[in-house]
Amino acid sequence: MKRLKADQFADQWALLTAGQKEHFNMMTISWGGMGTLWNKPVVTVYVKPCRYTYEFMEKNDYFVVSFFGGTHKEDLNILGTHSGRHEDKLSLTSLTPIEINHGMTYQEATQTIICKKIYEQDLNLNQIPVEAMNGYYRNEPVHRMFIGEIIEIIEK
Ligand SMILES: Cc1cc2nc3c(=O)[nH]c(=O)nc-3n(C[C@H](O)[C@H](O)[C@H](O)COP(=O)(O)O)c2cc1C
Repeated sequence: MKRLKADQFADQWALLTAGQKEHFNMMTISWGGMGTLWNKPVVTVYVKPCRYTYEFMEKNDYFVVSFFGGTHKEDLNILGTHSGRHEDKLSLTSLTPIEINHGMTYQEATQTIICKKIYEQDLNLNQIPVEAMNGYYRNEPVHRMFIGEIIEIIEK
């Protein structure tokens, strides 16, 4: 297993991509985790149901998390503020999509983690701390947690 740092989501941000070459979508994420579940190496991501990417996460058995080593933040900002539902947002960036096993990543990615979905569940409103509730969910639905078993890591 290659080396993964739990805080690299917050530090570097990442792209979460689901779908195949003919039909895929991606969004920026900065929340997530790396760890172990049921003795498998896993990545956990949190996606709001209003994201277009959510539909791809629901329909596909795999998802891909691509890191850029802290570079390309402008591109990640575009992909995290525009929706693929309304426009070809990838064309607004300098990123080049490439096909990999079970999905898509980007030529510029320094680390790509291919994940097979093994669990998903909406966060439970009753269990969310008051500050987080007030900060994130006052008028908005909760995130859905997706846990993926790490199938492959591609590094440059
Ligand atoms: C730095 C950054 C981090 C983000 N992290 C998350 C996240 O962890 N979960 C989430 O649901 N949305 C997150 N977003 C918001 C989505 O990336 C954003 O809503 C995006 O436009 C969704 O695109 P889509 O509709 O094409 O899926 C983040 C945005 C930015 C800029």
